[in-house]
Amino acid sequence: MQDLTPDPATLDAGEVAPVEELRALQLERMRWSLQHAYDGVPHYRAAFDAAGVHARELESLADLARFPFTTKADLRANYPFGMFAVPQEQVRRVHASSGTTGQPTVVGYTERDLSTWADLVARSMRAAGVRPGMKVHVAYGYGLFTGGLGAHYGAERLGCTVIPVSGGQTARQVRLIHDFRPQVVMVTPSYMLSLLDEFERQGLDPRESSLRIGVFGAEPWTEDMRREVEERAGLHAVDIYGLSEVMGPGVASECVETKDGLHVWEDHFYPEVVDPETGEVMPDGEEGELVFTSLTKEAMPVVRYRTRDLTRLLPGTARSVRRIQRITGRSDDMVILRGVNVFPTQVEELVLRVDGLTPHYQLVLTRPGRLDEMTVRVEARADRSAAERARLGEQLCSLVKEHVGVTVTCDVVEPETLVRSEGKAVRVLDQRG
Ligand code: DLL
Repeated sequence: MQDLTPDPATLDAGEVAPVEELRALQLERMRWSLQHAYDGVPHYRAAFDAAGVHARELESLADLARFPFTTKADLRANYPFGMFAVPQEQVRRVHASSGTTGQPTVVGYTERDLSTWADLVARSMRAAGVRPGMKVHVAYGYGLFTGGLGAHYGAERLGCTVIPVSGGQTARQVRLIHDFRPQVVMVTPSYMLSLLDEFERQGLDPRESSLRIGVFGAEPWTEDMRREVEERAGLHAVDIYGLSEVMGPGVASECVETKDGLHVWEDHFYPEVVDPETGEVMPDGEEGELVFTSLTKEAMPVVRYRTRDLTRLLPGTARSVRRIQRITGRSDDMVILRGVNVFPTQVEELVLRVDGLTPHYQLVLTRPGRLDEMTVRVEARADRSAAERARLGEQLCSLVKEHVGVTVTCDVVEPETLVRSEGKAVRVLDQRG
């Protein structure tokens, strides 16, 4: 595959600044951000006062640990606009998370916030190998979800030609890729799999397509999935991370030349990793829950926002800012099966090790008696007899037993039986009722 390492002259000062310089900038911006949150948002004023902390007293970045966390519940309690720190007339746009459980969380952006966001998505895309002049097919959903519009304005900012397709209508997506010849596709990894299947259904070889780079995110995926997609599609598959509460896509991004985890754009977001139980800050390198404090956001600053995403902080490589390791999963997606923690990504890795299984899979939880049981439902590749499918299932079950340490049932179904993702895949079906 082509070497897409960017020309160092094209990088932003913020991604390559020496670490000491970056820390000084973060401290200055953090003081501003904490004060701004305190002045503009009653929730933060009350929370800081209750904890007896003040922006003035922030002498070092480590002092942030004295400030209270912010959770999704805080955002919900202030639904819809209570977390905004500027008058509504200064809010140019709102987005909202889908909120599968309970109220959606609403986020807002000033003109400057939108511009910063476009800059950071452009930076992320450049890190992924995208260059001005390339055509970018955006298949993240447009609307309240931040994926579509976030990618859209970032691609425009970088100087690309945007093809704003949004999610869904899979056959049409493939036709448009075939006809418009984009070099870049931005989509969730699970929907990319659906697109690849559709290429084949239309008798097209995805490796012959114009696509050279896939910028994939919005859900957990694995190294094995990267390999699968890169081989099937003949492109660089690069990881992009973000969440609406903190901005949207482009909070962190992988660099195509190293593909070794996601560089956090630390000039705008201060990351911490904390023990999910005690909330204590963990040293870099240790796994825990990712927490973000925004450093420049105007409309909706966030202070120590608990993402529930599990990862570790690592030193920078291709850039000077720190990296996060690929997200293993959200604490919400973790299944506790007879005392063992299981993440869908652990099962995904194993599914992809069994020749003859596809990465279309779901974990189904049931409680037939007093104990929970889990069935891994996964599609076989084409043309397998029932006996062969049963054998593949046995193979997968023993891999899960060996590597995850739990006994599961494996149900290997025929191709095209599981519901296809058109955005974020639903990996866990809880039927324990
Ligand atoms: O998913 C923003 C986004 C859009 C990121 C497009 C990348 C590409 P939310 O809908 O608020 O925002 O969901 C955020 O999705 O807390 C993670 O659990 C998960 N997530 C996002 N990116 C990744 C990734 C968008 N690269 C939640 N790897 C986050 C793993 C991811 N999980």
